[in-house]
Amino acid sequence: MKTILHISASARGEESASYRLSRRMIAQLREQHPDARVVSRDLYAEPVPHIDSLYASTLARLPGGAPHAQGLSSLAWSDLLIEELKAADAVVIATPMHNFTVPSVLKAWLDHVVRIGVTFNATPQGKVGTLPDRPVYIAVSSGGPRSGERARQPDFLEPYLRAILATIGLTDLHFV
Ligand SMILES: Cc1cc2nc3c(=O)[nH]c(=O)nc-3n(C[C@H](O)[C@H](O)[C@H](O)COP(=O)(O)O)c2cc1C
Repeated sequence: MKTILHISASARGEESASYRLSRRMIAQLREQHPDARVVSRDLYAEPVPHIDSLYASTLARLPGGAPHAQGLSSLAWSDLLIEELKAADAVVIATPMHNFTVPSVLKAWLDHVVRIGVTFNATPQGKVGTLPDRPVYIAVSSGGPRSGERARQPDFLEPYLRAILATIGLTDLHFV
């Protein structure tokens, strides 16, 4: 394992429970792979913009995900984030539950990396991911239980991440 991509989606920085848990996951990975490089993407420290109209309309107009023209900022972000993901041998995601699902900053990241013709293809059988599978470790924190007998709320976070990451080919998920 050469590269670990560390995505953090908490507004609470290093105080964050999910961030601290994810740091422990990374420490464990690095015990097995001491030379692994960690690439950090803190979605609050450096917010990823929402997709813009050019991104949305370009993808809609050009099925198959045409190569983008230089200078389209949202597509440039998409390119960058997809390259980071492709280069990672393992991914560690730190995320709190916000309103029963992922925080909007993590959704914005997903909107950039789940891209037709690039990370998945639309086929008559449905969406087929193009990324080689790799382990994804997901550190989740929530104010109340989100699963089991004590849960008093729906959990759209874990099923959503399982579905959307599978769409691009990532199925080796480990939730903690
Ligand atoms: C905007 C917002 C929405 C939240 N929604 C939920 C929720 O739906 N369910 C829940 O259990 N906790 C919810 N919480 C609480 C956080 O998930 C909880 O405090 C979590 O431990 C924060 O993790 P962090 O320290 O990694 O940021 C919410 C917090 C915020 C700020």
